[in-house]
Amino acid sequence: MKDLFVKSTGETSDIVEKEMFSLQDQGGRDLALRPEGTPGIVRAYINNNLSQEGHASKLFYIGSMFRAERPQAGRYREFEQIGVESLGNGHPAADAECILALRHFLESVGLAGKTRLRLNNIGCDEDPSCRPAYRKELRAFLDARSGELCDNCRRRMDRNPLRALDCKKDGPKLSENAPRLRPCGKCRVHVETVSRLLEENACGHVFPDSNLVRGLDYYTSTVFEFQADGIGAQDAVAGGGRYDTLVASMGGKPTPAVGWALGVERLLMAVLAHDSSGSSLAKISAPPKTDVYLVLATKDAEAVSKGVEIIESLRRFGIRAGGGLFSLSLKAQMREAGRQQVRYTVVLGEDELKKSPPTCKLKDMESGAQEDVALTDLLENIGNKLSKSELDLPQGA
Ligand code: HAM
Repeated sequence: MKDLFVKSTGETSDIVEKEMFSLQDQGGRDLALRPEGTPGIVRAYINNNLSQEGHASKLFYIGSMFRAERPQAGRYREFEQIGVESLGNGHPAADAECILALRHFLESVGLAGKTRLRLNNIGCDEDPSCRPAYRKELRAFLDARSGELCDNCRRRMDRNPLRALDCKKDGPKLSENAPRLRPCGKCRVHVETVSRLLEENACGHVFPDSNLVRGLDYYTSTVFEFQADGIGAQDAVAGGGRYDTLVASMGGKPTPAVGWALGVERLLMAVLAHDSSGSSLAKISAPPKTDVYLVLATKDAEAVSKGVEIIESLRRFGIRAGGGLFSLSLKAQMREAGRQQVRYTVVLGEDELKKSPPTCKLKDMESGAQEDVALTDLLENIGNKLSKSELDLPQGA
């Protein structure tokens, strides 16, 4: 139904204002061709009761989207998206995991070093000193310059002044003098932690960009886009961010969430711009099942860093690794590992991390056998346990 997108994608988004293919069916119901995947995923999450306490979900979709945009290279009226949504995890590690997974995917199709990550935090509405205060300040700034603004920015100035910052016409001239968001304490810690986790995991080419707003109304806190080289003006291959208020606004329990979507046509353009044979695409294979699940028995910031680093290095080694639900209790994380029927669980606890060298507990979920393993030996230990054929190794390895 059209209403789904009006209420979630948002009335001040370009999509709802001018890009939806809308129609009425025989029953007089207002329908729309799906312009993006996130609202449908959130509706399914609520309707299928996935928002039960402690139940975090990582979902994906692949499908056609439709937007009535002016077609040009890389901008189509029908296009394919691959999307990922992580619901129920408000920890900054979830943002980092989403971004790192996207980077992995881009690297796996030959785009290592060929994309830039633009990253911003657009604040929250929970704390009046955060985005609400910023909106007011920015609104006054725009008001004083309304004569110089394009029609779109003038029209949106009251309801969504932030959009002026990423307007193609007005954004560049406003960006120098426009007031900047002063994030509340919670948002500041969030953005610092996301940035640190990305840095610690060598997520190269990160550009903090305070003009990145993103055109969908549901975003809160972290927003990001990956831009690719060599594909012209429509260079955003993927974009996403946090949307912590959307599930509740659609009738579900308050549930933090973060996700992204990637444009398949733009991805292909970027791959072919660097590898005209497209041979790197042959490396994409069917989504595998998780073999190793990382559980954190402490909320300590250093342990969180270690946890993200271990998941990242397991994946780089070709091991199918999951976890990262660090805001949940140990019990809830173990329950999730059981639900996913993983083969091994790696448990990181405060005491083990203090040892010299630091260790973890590696548990065989089938036999229940548990051993202490030095973190330095973890990759090799698990690698030996899983036969080579089961590893998700890059071709030729
Ligand atoms: P979006 O930025 O509107 O985000 O779209 C994501 C990607 O879809 C873009 O980066 C681009 O590659 C591709 N795309 C968008 N419009 C077109 C077009 N007209 N022609 C070709 N490719 C296009 C979303 O859709 C959000 N649902 C992403 C998200 C998921 N945020 C949180 N979770």
